[in-house]
Amino acid sequence: MKALLLSGGKGTRLRPFTLTTPKPLLPIANIPLITWQFEFLRHYGITEIIVGVGYKPESFKKTVEKIAGKMKIKTHLSIENTPLGTGGGFRNAYPFFKEETEPFVVLNGDVIGDFNLNQIIAFHREKGADITIGLTKINNPSSYGLIITDSNMGVKKFIEKPKTEEIVCDTINAGLYIFTPEIFSEIPAGKNISIEKEVFPALLKNGKKIYGVIHNGYWVDVGTVAKYKQTNFDALEGKTGIYSIRGQGDNFLAGDNSVLKEDVQIKGRVIIGNNCVVGNGCVLEESIIMNNTIIRDRVVIKNSVVGTDVAIENDSVIDNMILADKSLVRPFTQPMRD
Ligand code: GDD
Ligand code: MG
Repeated sequence: MKALLLSGGKGTRLRPFTLTTPKPLLPIANIPLITWQFEFLRHYGITEIIVGVGYKPESFKKTVEKIAGKMKIKTHLSIENTPLGTGGGFRNAYPFFKEETEPFVVLNGDVIGDFNLNQIIAFHREKGADITIGLTKINNPSSYGLIITDSNMGVKKFIEKPKTEEIVCDTINAGLYIFTPEIFSEIPAGKNISIEKEVFPALLKNGKKIYGVIHNGYWVDVGTVAKYKQTNFDALEGKTGIYSIRGQGDNFLAGDNSVLKEDVQIKGRVIIGNNCVVGNGCVLEESIIMNNTIIRDRVVIKNSVVGTDVAIENDSVIDNMILADKSLVRPFTQPMRD
């Protein structure tokens, strides 16, 4: 079985980090997000993965092949020259699936979840479905796609980013789909089209059999900086189910070649990337520091996410900040106090 990752979005809610690095390549516990997805798919025996990209494809070219080589999986990039949306991105990957007769997996490029893929595929076959969608239950579905099902888990309605008055259930599209190859012929080629807002409702109207399977385990859409921070800590603490390639209840992780000088205090959960230096007497608390960052002496970093190639000079206090890649913070920078 093959899989397609929809990894072409601009990741606007994860700016400033996605201005330089596409969301799927941002580190989660020092491992690119896409590696966690490869690991999930490989766990279920999927070793040929198509990555649908459009935003910064050159970054994917460099990184994906390297990761795939190490993991002994085969990858192809399906490149969109203009943004095609989730539906257009899916259609664009058709050349990689044109020989397929079996169902295949499609996964949003920003989702980490320990889905029971075997169970979802078995359900798909049992129902003779055209499409089966992984669903998850969430407290506030307003930033996701609400999916209403009947008692047999047949999809009745899609409401993408529902308004408060439209929220009539708590099951959302978890960004994992099983598709039958015939679906490609239902989508126009070369057009910007949304799978959630346009393709799914149209297919439902045309009588296609679309089902949902509720996933009860770990699930996250790494869509915002707050979610990014939380996912990193979940990964560190080993909460992400079968993705626990890192973290077994730890509260601290430092990447390769990173150095902590004297009297550094670590409070709460802290992740430091590769090639970082943390100076004497620094205090790091509930924060993530990405690769190649230099922190001079007596710096306090609290509740913050610090990008790559950042320099923070001595005696600065970074509190509740999102610091862009390549930031330079001069000595004694600090929040205003009375
Ligand atoms: N190839 C390609 N081309 N991929 C794209 C494009 C594109 O033009 N636009 C977005 N994507 C990818 C993104 O990179 C991301 O991995 C995925 O498609 C979903 O896009 P998001 O922008 O993250 O959508 P969302 O989080 O607001 O909503 C989607 O995901 C939710 C679950 O995580 C929808 O599918 C919702 O219905 C769903 O609940
Ligand atoms: Mg998303």
